[in-house]
Amino acid sequence: MVYGKSFIGIGAQYGDEGKIKIFDQVIQDAKVWARFNGGPNAGHNLKVGDIHIVTHGVPSGFTRESVLGYIGSGTVVNPEKLNVEIADIVAHGFNLENRLFISGNASLIQPHHTLLDGLKGKEIGTTGNGIGPAYADQAQRQLGRRLKNIRMGDYLANPTECFVHVRANLEEVVQKHKLSKVNTHILTKRFDEETKRLEKYLCEDPFFLENIIEQGENVFFEGANAIMLDVVQGIVPYVTSSRTIAAAAYTGGDLSLRYHHKTIAVAKAIMSRVGNGPFVSEFGSERSEDYCKAGGGYKNTKEAESELYDSCELLKSDDPLHIGIALRMLGGEYGATTKRPRRIGMLDLVMLRQNCRLNAVDELYLNKVDCLRQFADSSLPGIPLVMGYELDGQCIEYMPSTEGKLRRVMPVVEYLPPFTQDISKARRREELPGEVLEFIRVVEEYVGTPIFGIGVGAEREEYVALK
Ligand code: IMP
Repeated sequence: MVYGKSFIGIGAQYGDEGKIKIFDQVIQDAKVWARFNGGPNAGHNLKVGDIHIVTHGVPSGFTRESVLGYIGSGTVVNPEKLNVEIADIVAHGFNLENRLFISGNASLIQPHHTLLDGLKGKEIGTTGNGIGPAYADQAQRQLGRRLKNIRMGDYLANPTECFVHVRANLEEVVQKHKLSKVNTHILTKRFDEETKRLEKYLCEDPFFLENIIEQGENVFFEGANAIMLDVVQGIVPYVTSSRTIAAAAYTGGDLSLRYHHKTIAVAKAIMSRVGNGPFVSEFGSERSEDYCKAGGGYKNTKEAESELYDSCELLKSDDPLHIGIALRMLGGEYGATTKRPRRIGMLDLVMLRQNCRLNAVDELYLNKVDCLRQFADSSLPGIPLVMGYELDGQCIEYMPSTEGKLRRVMPVVEYLPPFTQDISKARRREELPGEVLEFIRVVEEYVGTPIFGIGVGAEREEYVALK
């Protein structure tokens, strides 16, 4: 019997690397696209012709008719948000019935989780979706006789009893934080209705993916968030609350690692991050972090920035904070989920090398290579690359894992020759200018992972395969 294989795709930086555009190009023959971590904090932009859909929880492969979607036990599900998303996908003409499967072991994001995240998530700069509190309750399991963690399967097997637990969990938070305006009755009733609406997608078969593989079909694990946001190996505490590294596919994805074939990772040639925390290669360092903070008092929305600033002027400034603002405006770097301005930084090869090594990345893809052209019009001497770290006067070859040390790291920056051409029309390696090929060579050599393709524009087809 010829078995199928499993593949993993992950983000190699801080999220928002444009993963789906690449997955869509290179994952041609998977029968199932499966999610193994996270929940509605992820925002995946899908473009099919004129259609633009932002998905959060539904695996992105549904645009191909024969592809099934699986939401694994390592994810957390907000029933109301998932139903809204499903309705949007259906309204765009895609059928999900008998094509979407949700593990009964996936934990539900209950109303009190979202409330708590809104109250407590600001220091980290979470997306406010209740992700952290949901995973915290998963670990807590139950308090006395009250269930804190309620999974899809639990709720649908016994809605009457689970409803009581959901309400008690919510009432506890409402009383503790004196949230007199919260209508617990409406929230729990809606939660109940929305969870029941998902029943037709419930999958309680632990061999669901194994059976697909045994039929000779492939499974693709679509990572959400990104390596640097991993709850253990990311920049703690400025991380999400799930495991985001490649190996997590085989804990949260409900398939054994027996069929693993390869791991692909996506990075951006100009990096970004949303939320707070150290970001070694950030233009404008902590001033930029402060400027981009939600509710920090700055006019930093997409609309405000385009009204206030001339990006071409800012690009010529000697102040790195201004260069970061200009690159955000020119690259449209504003959050898909939260609309927040993304903090912008140089491509950090120390970090990329570490992430590719620790996740055994077989193929690397680089998005936004076309945006490097902006450096030709900037005050910088060329395309900046972080090619070393200095900590307290010593060279180090890895990312320190504590906040204090990370904030003291000085990036060692080298510059490659800039290019002026618009490369968005290039589709083959031969159509790329020498400076771009040199950039690719330097990155590949430093990171030690082959670059299989580059994104040269926002559109699906604006892509150059290199291998
Ligand atoms: P949470 O996942 O909502 O708890 O947010 C924790 C941190 O992870 C915050 O800095 C978020 O901005 C960040 N984060 C979570 N998901 C994503 C993502 O898909 N892309 C980028 N950042 C994310």
